[in-house]
Amino acid sequence: MATSVPGTSGAGSPWMGDERTDWVPPNIDATKPSSARIYDYFLGGKDNYAIDRAAAEEMLKSAPDARKTARSNRAFLVKAVQLMTQAGIEQFIDLGTGIPTSPNVHEVAAETYPEARVVYVDIDPIVTSHARALLATLPTVVSVQQDLRQPAAILQDPAVRSLIDFSRPVGLLLVGVLHFVSFDVGTGMVRTYLNALAPGSHLALSAASREGMAPEAVRRMEEVGATLASGAFMRSMAQVEELFEGLDLVEPGITEVSRWRSDGTPGRLRILAGVGVKR
Ligand SMILES: C[S@@+](CC[C@H](N)C(=O)[O-])C[C@H]1O[C@@H](n2cnc3c(N)ncnc32)[C@H](O)[C@@H]1O
Repeated sequence: MATSVPGTSGAGSPWMGDERTDWVPPNIDATKPSSARIYDYFLGGKDNYAIDRAAAEEMLKSAPDARKTARSNRAFLVKAVQLMTQAGIEQFIDLGTGIPTSPNVHEVAAETYPEARVVYVDIDPIVTSHARALLATLPTVVSVQQDLRQPAAILQDPAVRSLIDFSRPVGLLLVGVLHFVSFDVGTGMVRTYLNALAPGSHLALSAASREGMAPEAVRRMEEVGATLASGAFMRSMAQVEELFEGLDLVEPGITEVSRWRSDGTPGRLRILAGVGVKR
């Protein structure tokens, strides 16, 4: 895999110190905004292009505190993995990984289980390029470039099957990604993943929500989302609850992400988050 992508240090990197360039590797489409790169921009990363920054700035007009929301979402991911390792889970499938941002799932899990196994799945080649460069020396972590809306392909992927023992509980992460999956596909897709997992498996999920947002702000978010290849789908509380159907929700249930085991204040862009356990 190519390693000379934005933000990669070392020879061939387009980054010289903190200087930003818009050099584009051949396998990357920089003519359309990418959700991975917009999120990276919100988190203060450098792996984004002018088109991503323009889309991000457009979103900031409706939700000026979207960066804070992105950080709350990342904090939820970390807390969810910690909860899962405390429950004895040593293997994870992280769907919609994003550009590596420390601490990553394998780093959090390794605090409890140094041999924890993690499969990272993302559709964006910039994510897999980075992940593979970063993880090349770790035998317990793999990065798969795949569309998470194809659960059968992911569940049958030889790399996934070689790392994950499906007879034991798995931590399934769908964090900050369901808003790129249409309403008609999302619920059935989550069900297909859960059906393949052993009892005791945990689902951590967060998704952008229209709940508590001004209709005008929702409209503008969806407008920017429509410029992404995936589109954007902001769910109601009832639609998020449906994704957890049949699971036992851990405390505090489904909440705005800044309030999940935290006393943060919800931002203008709302994200609902929860963790459920398969019986
Ligand atoms: C907002 S980032 C979330 C990253 C990380 N999960 C987190 O919460 O910090 C969403 C990621 O989902 C990926 N993504 C969007 N649609 C996808 C799809 N259909 N299949 C796989 N990955 C997808 C994007 O490329 C991006 O990296």
